[in-house]
Amino acid sequence: MEYILAPSILAADFGNLRSEVETVSRAGAGYIHIDVMDGMFVPSISFGMPVIQSIRSCTDKVFDVHMMVEEPGRYAEAMKAAGADLLCVHQEACRHLDRTIQQIKSLGMKAGVALNPATPAESVEWILGEVDMVLLMSVNPGFGGQKFIPYVLEKVKRLRAMIDERGLSTDIQVDGGVGLDNAESLLKAGANILVAGSAVYKGDAAANVEAFLKLFAQYS
Ligand code: DX5
Ligand code: ZN
Repeated sequence: MEYILAPSILAADFGNLRSEVETVSRAGAGYIHIDVMDGMFVPSISFGMPVIQSIRSCTDKVFDVHMMVEEPGRYAEAMKAAGADLLCVHQEACRHLDRTIQQIKSLGMKAGVALNPATPAESVEWILGEVDMVLLMSVNPGFGGQKFIPYVLEKVKRLRAMIDERGLSTDIQVDGGVGLDNAESLLKAGANILVAGSAVYKGDAAANVEAFLKLFAQYS
């Protein structure tokens, strides 16, 4: 299984965003996790297409765009144009989830579906075969720097069993409160993409990325 670190730029210094992205890219992050918030699906507002476009040229890493937005299909085409490679939408924010997933794929992006902590893993049963990734939120979405919700660990195991049973290769991403303290238990439970905001950007970002990668190397 391929293990990927996805630093969340929400915790980066926005005044130096290009160099913050370059630092983690050079250090070996596989994805750049980009949190888009609309002030409706989640309380806060982060940034949108122009900011994403402005950092597109500083790395060729996968732009993993986490849409914390109501009816995100409205922005799929604009996100593709801004440089998104993978568009991840919340199950709770899409009235017609299948349509939105097909729309994302038809635009040539990878498609992901995200679940809030309290949304059951089983809710992706029918869409599982259609997506490249399932994102399990391990905090309530909207802010960086929150505490990991422990019950999500069991949910990762449940989802991994569903994926393996069907012989799928869907990625499991975990997002929120992830750090070196709980990364190992998440990998053991079956996650293979870890998002880390504060755990990467607090302190020496390059060294933090390397520490995660060292841990991943033990599991690859
Ligand atoms: C939360 C965002 C996360 C956040 C993670 O709503 O989706 O991606 O940036 O930040 P940390 O790793 O600090 O919990
Ligand atoms: Zn996120």
